[in-house]
Amino acid sequence: MIDGGAPTGAPPIRWTTVSNPDLTTRLDAAVTAALEAIAAATTVAELQAAKTAHNGQGSELASLNGSLRDLAPELRKEAGAAIGQARGRVGQAIEARTGELAVAEEQARLQAEAVDVTALATHQRPGSRHPLTMLMDEMADIFTGMGWEVAEGPELEHEWYNFDALNVDPDHPARGESDTFYVEPASKHLVMRTQTSPVQVRSLLTRDLPVYVVAPGRTYRTDEIDATHLPVFTQIEGLAVDEGITMAHLRGTLEHLARQMFGEEARIRLRPNHFPFTEPSAEMDVWHPGMRGGPRWVEWGGCGMVHPNVLRSAGVDPDRYSGFAFGMGIERTLQFRYQLDDMRDMIEGDVRFSEQFGMVI
Ligand code: DAH
Repeated sequence: MIDGGAPTGAPPIRWTTVSNPDLTTRLDAAVTAALEAIAAATTVAELQAAKTAHNGQGSELASLNGSLRDLAPELRKEAGAAIGQARGRVGQAIEARTGELAVAEEQARLQAEAVDVTALATHQRPGSRHPLTMLMDEMADIFTGMGWEVAEGPELEHEWYNFDALNVDPDHPARGESDTFYVEPASKHLVMRTQTSPVQVRSLLTRDLPVYVVAPGRTYRTDEIDATHLPVFTQIEGLAVDEGITMAHLRGTLEHLARQMFGEEARIRLRPNHFPFTEPSAEMDVWHPGMRGGPRWVEWGGCGMVHPNVLRSAGVDPDRYSGFAFGMGIERTLQFRYQLDDMRDMIEGDVRFSEQFGMVI
């Protein structure tokens, strides 16, 4: 007997009067199945599916409703009321379950979003710039402070810029495969630049004279890694080309750089040397009281007066212009400044090393 949903006190419906005695049983089963499915739904989506299956188009209740058409008019009223009550009951159950599930889902959402304000914060280390990068920038800043410009060139460089234009003879040992990373195909004459000196030529070719540039950047040589060698390292190059440039300008500039880098007591000295791209050429040593291994002279970089052939390669008239150039390793500079024993520390990416130089982001 179906009486749920009927107003209290309403007389029970006797289906025996209906021409299809099956109807009561089928209606009963359909409501029971619907209520079970509604109760079993644990999400709004599942409930929606139950609603469609048990009360929607094509469901048993809908087709029973459709069968009213076949009843004799005198029975249709009673049967229609019973089916209407059954559908009403299912509809109410869906509504009630919808409310319950909405509350449950909201609660689950709030729980998932809950923040434990008493939990300990996890410490997030901010990233920071590498000491080599910071030093490179600091050195470049010393020059921009004097009105120089910062120039850049490619790390994958044409042999002409890296060697030929710098007056490096085709047979020069530095061009050998034992020092230089040549990049295939050989017909393209590409190398990983072995020095920042090619930026001298690039700067002269692209800028109007006079030229005062520094070029910090990465360089490559086929060296084995040890405490004082890295196959990928960094240099800073300097170039001043103007009318009337002399070696005194070179010396003064390097002295200024040394003092800015190592303090007022720092001193430099130049020793004769040979580089293909300078004439005369010199090795530059630096001395400062805080030098790694005690106050002493250490070799810091190479320098000299720009060779006339280099000026000519870059289309500069050597009779009118002269220039000086220098280049030094950033890793070595960091070593001298902070008394670091092993260059390998600089490439291992251990923040405990970097932290000692200040964490600048
Ligand atoms: N390029 C040289 C090297 O890597 C360093 C150097 C020497 C640069 C003399 C210069 C220079 O500009 O004039 O060893």
